[in-house]
Amino acid sequence: MKDEQESSRRSFIKKLTTATAAVAAGSGLLASQSQAKSFSIQKRLVGNSPNDQVNLALIGAGGMGTQDTITALQVPGVKLVAVCDLYDGRLKDAKTRWGADIFTTRVYKEILNRKDVDAVIIATPDHWHQQISVDAMHAGKHVYCEKPMVHAITEGPAVIKAQKETGMIFQVGSQGVSSLGNEKAHELLKSGAIGELNYAEGFWARRAPLEVWQYPIPEDASPQTVDWETYISNTKKRPFDEKRFFRWRNYTDYGTGMAGDLFVHLFSSLHFITDSVGPNKIYASGGLRFWNDGREVPDVLLGTFDYGKTQAHPAFNLSLRCNFVDGTSGTTYLKLVGSEGSMDITWDKVTLKRNKVLASDDPFYLDKLKKAGSGYAERKKMLPPEEITYDADKGYLGGPYDHMNNFFTAIRNKGKVTEDAIFGYRAAAPALLCNDSYYNNSPMFWDPEKMQLIKK
Ligand SMILES: NC(=O)c1ccc[n+]([C@@H]2O[C@H](COP(=O)([O-])OP(=O)(O)OC[C@H]3O[C@@H](n4cnc5c(N)ncnc54)[C@H](O)[C@@H]3O)[C@@H](O)[C@H]2O)c1
Repeated sequence: MKDEQESSRRSFIKKLTTATAAVAAGSGLLASQSQAKSFSIQKRLVGNSPNDQVNLALIGAGGMGTQDTITALQVPGVKLVAVCDLYDGRLKDAKTRWGADIFTTRVYKEILNRKDVDAVIIATPDHWHQQISVDAMHAGKHVYCEKPMVHAITEGPAVIKAQKETGMIFQVGSQGVSSLGNEKAHELLKSGAIGELNYAEGFWARRAPLEVWQYPIPEDASPQTVDWETYISNTKKRPFDEKRFFRWRNYTDYGTGMAGDLFVHLFSSLHFITDSVGPNKIYASGGLRFWNDGREVPDVLLGTFDYGKTQAHPAFNLSLRCNFVDGTSGTTYLKLVGSEGSMDITWDKVTLKRNKVLASDDPFYLDKLKKAGSGYAERKKMLPPEEITYDADKGYLGGPYDHMNNFFTAIRNKGKVTEDAIFGYRAAAPALLCNDSYYNNSPMFWDPEKMQLIKK
């Protein structure tokens, strides 16, 4: 593997030198090396000609379901025919948005029984993903299921089995996986742009009530307008509780906390970029520091994950953090660090930073050097660019569109999607085990290849 990486590293450096020379020739001169340069423009051709119309239904018409459907309807040849939700207000909104002729129901099986539905988007709270996905595939529907694929680690195999048995297209909704940014990062890592991967990180900072899951509760929320009994029918029985319905992310019966909500995106992107199947050790800590609004999940969560060496990558560590009481530290979608540089990755941009000459920017070390006196004078060298930014082309429709487009293209071509049930489970599992680690106060061990929990 080392030889292979060394030769791709050399080929990357060669390409980088050629590209830099080309930019320099075009612009007259290469601007200051420390300045980020937008030198690689990426383009994606939009859409494919729609052979057949794909009739779509939405199950779970809240924030993300609505957004997913808006995106899906941008893909040529997709028509929305039905919407299901357990709250009447969402069904009313769906008719207002998409037309009175849309079939609406509170019962998802009525959607699955319809002959005119080819595919469904499942955007319910997490505790319904597995059951509706399995039922939908057995009813002959293709499925776009929101992340995390499942609500508990035990639920993944049933979805994988249903996909295998039925042959339906099943895609999980971590949309970054289909983005230009993730594709570019994958290509750069493979070509040796940051040397040998040894560390990755991601973090989110949030503070506003709406961002941290204190959603508004509709004025007409009641057992008459909400089908509460169905909502809790696969979990613990409780009396009607509007907070548990409209702010479901805060409760473990329905949501998967920060890890299932946010970390899972990072696992999906990281696994795609590195061709990894997942970590084998998972450890989390955190706490509930501020939002004492009855929530059962922490508002500060740190996770560390050990990835073992595989054919695809060396061993490396991942650190993820989420802080819902944070007004300062900013958000980093995903950073990959290697022996020769690092990459900051978003869905439409990758910023590659390469070590100049393995010089340190550690302030303590630099201070020590200064105090010791700089010593001998070396002749200065010509240096390659330190920082390069790869931007998506203007007008890029983004990861969400690409992800939907990949889903419908696979349906039309009887093809495959990257983020299928196995990929989705391998991304959900470390997120769910992060919660298990937090609540059990102990590390969790996982065999990512076999997708099995390891008891120690
Ligand atoms: N990919 C992303 O970037 C992204 C972003 C946000 C949310 N999500 C995911 O989307 C899903 C929905 O999140 P949201 O923010 O839209 O929540 P939401 O509360 O706004 O919407 C959920 C909807 O599902 C309905 N519902 C609940 N149980 C149902 C059932 N059994 N059958 C039919 N409808 C049911 C609710 O009434 C509600 O309208 C979650 O799994 C979440 O993790 C993904």
